[in-house]
Amino acid sequence: MLTEVTATRYVTPLREGGSLPGIVEADDLGTYVMKFTGAGQGRKTLVAEVVCGQLGRRLGLRVPELTGIQLDPVIGLGEPDQEVQELLKASGGLNLGMDYLPGSIGFDPLAYEVDPAEAGRIVWFDALINNVDRSWRNPNMLVWHGDVWLIDHGATMIWHHNWPGAAASAAKPYDASDHVLARFRPDIPAAAAELAPLVTEELLTEVAADVPDEWLVDEPGFATTDALRRAYVEALLPRAASIHARITLGEPTAPRPSRAPGWLTGRPDADEKEAGA
Ligand SMILES: Nc1ncnc2c1ncn2[C@@H]1O[C@H](COP(=O)(O)OP(=O)(O)OP(=O)(O)O)[C@@H](O)[C@H]1O
Ligand SMILES: [Mg+2]
Repeated sequence: MLTEVTATRYVTPLREGGSLPGIVEADDLGTYVMKFTGAGQGRKTLVAEVVCGQLGRRLGLRVPELTGIQLDPVIGLGEPDQEVQELLKASGGLNLGMDYLPGSIGFDPLAYEVDPAEAGRIVWFDALINNVDRSWRNPNMLVWHGDVWLIDHGATMIWHHNWPGAAASAAKPYDASDHVLARFRPDIPAAAAELAPLVTEELLTEVAADVPDEWLVDEPGFATTDALRRAYVEALLPRAASIHARITLGEPTAPRPSRAPGWLTGRPDADEKEAGA
């Protein structure tokens, strides 16, 4: 079970997130990035965040702590933005919180070096959970106190959108050629040797148990929420043992243009180069 807190103040929306997550304060005096059950992406996104986030944490990867957040939409009454008002109104009850990392910045592959061992662990983990959302366009990683942190595991485990085809879907390869860390020569064999043995049936069962019942009820084809939890375990367990052999990295790509200005990356950016030419 996730710990649970109650939201006391809606601070501000995070506009860079497609699902319009918000920063909230809670009754434990913590500050959280909150993902809403009423967001258009649906509650399966939150299930994926819990299963994959907790799994990553149990494997020793840096994922900010997750918690359940109870929301009374009344806390948003003073919120001037209609889109935010509607999201809060549609999200009464239990939502997902992620520990807010103050002062973190978005990962930029041109400004930050990741060693092959760490890159290997992250790419292997993303292959396991079939994460399609860690590309150079949208890295979904933060740098905080000099370390890389993984966020946003909502677009993973595509098989949970079509359970009858789940076994076949989870047996498919993983194309990592677009992965933001593909250019850091990820050491996949070392990562698989280290991490795959940790992904046991017991660990996956514990991770699935952290998903709140209210996000699992009424899934067609499943009589109980525990039967659905079991389906998550059964998709991930065989994939952990074999996915390392089905990861495509592609050719190492040339550095992509950085969005960060040259003064931050220590390299001249495109405008500066043009000006100097
Ligand atoms: N724990 C955190 N601490 C600090 N900032 C965060 C944290 N989690 C998310 N953010 C910020 O909020 C943004 C949106 O978060 P996230 O990517 O999880 O949302 P999303 O709606 O799933 O986004 P996407 O559009 O990628 O699907 C991130 O890019 C980051 O800038
Ligand atoms: Mg994101």
